[in-house]
Amino acid sequence: MRTPWRRNTLALLAGAVAVLALAAVVAIACGSMPVALSCVALAIPLLGVMLVGVRRSLSRARAEVRLLSGSVSALASVVAATHVEIVDLQRRSQDHSETTARRLLSVESMAAELERHHDRLSSIEESVRSLDNARAADFSQTGRNILQAMHHIESTVEGVVQLYTATSLRAPMPPSGDWALDVQPLLRVLDLLKVSAATNVLELGSGTSTLWIAYALERSGGHLTSIDHSEVYGGRTRAELERHQLLSVAEVRLAPLRPLTLAGGMWNWYDPTVFDDLSDIDMLLVDGPPGNTGPLSRLPALGVLATRLSPGAFVVLDDAQRPDEIATVEHWLKDFPDFVLMEGVAPTLAVLRRAGPYATENGC
Ligand SMILES: C[S@@+](CC[C@H](N)C(=O)[O-])C[C@H]1O[C@@H](n2cnc3c(N)ncnc32)[C@H](O)[C@@H]1O
Repeated sequence: MRTPWRRNTLALLAGAVAVLALAAVVAIACGSMPVALSCVALAIPLLGVMLVGVRRSLSRARAEVRLLSGSVSALASVVAATHVEIVDLQRRSQDHSETTARRLLSVESMAAELERHHDRLSSIEESVRSLDNARAADFSQTGRNILQAMHHIESTVEGVVQLYTATSLRAPMPPSGDWALDVQPLLRVLDLLKVSAATNVLELGSGTSTLWIAYALERSGGHLTSIDHSEVYGGRTRAELERHQLLSVAEVRLAPLRPLTLAGGMWNWYDPTVFDDLSDIDMLLVDGPPGNTGPLSRLPALGVLATRLSPGAFVVLDDAQRPDEIATVEHWLKDFPDFVLMEGVAPTLAVLRRAGPYATENGC
């Protein structure tokens, strides 16, 4: 490397050569050849020394340049190799992150798939459990239904035996149950007739019960009025009464359903004029109109007929287990406080009794 000292020396030598050259030019111009020659003679060795110095400096500079260029090319190759490595690293890191991202995605989708399978399994488990429960419930419900049906058959057979042994029928009797009163409630009604000695009976809704009650009243000496809204079914009952020779004991009156307004609402109910000549009724059997003629279809019975009932009258309501009839009894007990409910008479009957002489005398 060229030092400042060497640079100064070369500058001094160049200055001295320049001064001598200038002196030689001045001496030639002044015509003094010897001085000019002396200046040239002095300048030549100085120029030589300067040239040697310059050459050395040049060769040193070349060597340094060679050294530097070697270093630069070495550095360049290091830089290039580093660049290649960096590019390679970048590529690998990119590949790696892409692979990682892909793996992450597939892991995520596997997790979602597992979650779905898990949910499906849980819902299958739940279905199997509820199927098991339903089957168990079905079995036990079916068992209960069978037992109930067997019990119903037993009690019907027992009731039928009692009914048919107590009455000498003059013609075949139409069946009980279904639309007609069941055998056990029917037996209870007949028993109530007997113990209460009721003679004046009013029935809403005619049918097989009309015949059984008529036979009972024939024995005890009473009378039955049965009301029907249907010409067809009322006509059938009348025909049966005739076949059984009971028309002197019982009659069927046709009373089509008409709009009836009472406190608390409007109903489709029997035309009330059909009751005009009735009074002192000992027993009112409410088995009509049918439930499908409107909500609380039997509620008006007591409102319309209470004044026509005797002091110790019984009111018997069939189908008392139905929600409408449960509500009907509640209304009656609230609106007619002189009536009380007789508990546990028969499964489908609600029997109310007016608290009158019969109740106190017989303690019934
Ligand atoms: C519950 S039923 C009355 C049943 C009657 N008290 C008895 O126990 O035989 C009420 C009304 O249903 C109608 N009815 C009677 N038998 C029927 C039948 N087989 N199908 C449809 N309605 C009938 C009649 O108009 C009757 O007044």
